[in-house]
Amino acid sequence: MTYTNRRLTLHKRPQGLIKEDDLMLEEAAVPELKEGEFLIKTQYLSLAPVMKFYMINGAGIEAPLGIGDTMRGRGVGEVIQSKNSNYQPGDIVQGKFGWQEYVTSKGTADDMMYQVTTQGLSSSTALGVLGITGYTSYFGLYDVGELKAGDQVLVSAAAGGVGCTLGQLATAKGATAVGLTSTDEKCKILIEKLGYRAAINYKTENVADRIAALFPQGIDVFFDNVGGEILDTALGHLNKYARVVMCGRISTYTDSLAEQTYRLKNWHKIGVARGSMKAFFIYDYEPRFGEAKEQMIEWIKTGKLNYHEDVLEGLEKMPEALNRLFQGKNIGKQLVKI
Ligand SMILES: NC(=O)c1ccc[n+]([C@@H]2O[C@H](COP(=O)([O-])OP(=O)(O)OC[C@H]3O[C@@H](n4cnc5c(N)ncnc54)[C@H](OP(=O)(O)O)[C@@H]3O)[C@@H](O)[C@H]2O)c1
Repeated sequence: MTYTNRRLTLHKRPQGLIKEDDLMLEEAAVPELKEGEFLIKTQYLSLAPVMKFYMINGAGIEAPLGIGDTMRGRGVGEVIQSKNSNYQPGDIVQGKFGWQEYVTSKGTADDMMYQVTTQGLSSSTALGVLGITGYTSYFGLYDVGELKAGDQVLVSAAAGGVGCTLGQLATAKGATAVGLTSTDEKCKILIEKLGYRAAINYKTENVADRIAALFPQGIDVFFDNVGGEILDTALGHLNKYARVVMCGRISTYTDSLAEQTYRLKNWHKIGVARGSMKAFFIYDYEPRFGEAKEQMIEWIKTGKLNYHEDVLEGLEKMPEALNRLFQGKNIGKQLVKI
């Protein structure tokens, strides 16, 4: 049986939101498998803000994409052919797929393939709550943020993939969280469905005033997904020994140099609070992923943890899906079903 693969490659570096001709849709027959290879049919592809940064040649932990490269990203899918004894047809795997419908892999360290066991949940969860996104919330809050019972937590991009579980993860350890987001509808979801004690609409409310009112003792843990002005404002309200978790900085993943290099005015407040600010890269926690997965599955099964996925359909929707992250349109983990 022969297959035809469709993939999206980087054609032009985007300016602002991604446009149709920034990417090229290419079609080619899947070559016959060589010894040691296996073929995966993609089920879901994951969207992450940092992908835009790769496209615009931004300097991050991972190298930027070159023109003509297949768009980089994780996916989950089913093994449909195999010449590798570690992978059998029918296995569900997740790893570095790229934006394509069929993936040929050798299962080497570069491809970062994991066998997926989701105990009855959709395979899509392997890219969300039971994947890199969920592990980022888990280790970012508990390990980097050193969360303790009674802590008062502030989360930016609280209704997004990483943010949507953080209110509940805080509650699970006897802490409480307040979320920042861009619409009243999302604020309502944060409080009613996602375990946040309060929410701030950063587009329509005075963020500094609201933080001051909601955190009379100051913030113990600020889990920041956004950077820039929101980070600066939060730094002005830290409690003694506060921990600032530098998870991401989506407000700076733009082609505007002024935004990319936003200069903090309140950085000295970390010193005043005798606090700390720590960045992390989730793949450094790889040896401990199993620990997070086991705990999150238990909490999902016992109703302690709700997860949200925002799913579009079709490879062609990948650019639109990535734009949604920058437009604040997604609620929960943004995915595309292939
Ligand atoms: N450190 C790590 O290893 C690691 C691993 C994974 C992810 N991350 C980072 O974690 C963050 C969240 O990732 P995610 O995949 O879960 O994305 P996400 O939060 O689902 O999507 C982005 C959200 O950010 C908000 N946003 C977009 N532009 C903004 C702006 N200019 N100012 C303020 N908010 C803005 C939007 O929500 P609103 O409606 O609230 O504006 C949007 O829905 C990202 O910064 C990502 O790079 C880090």
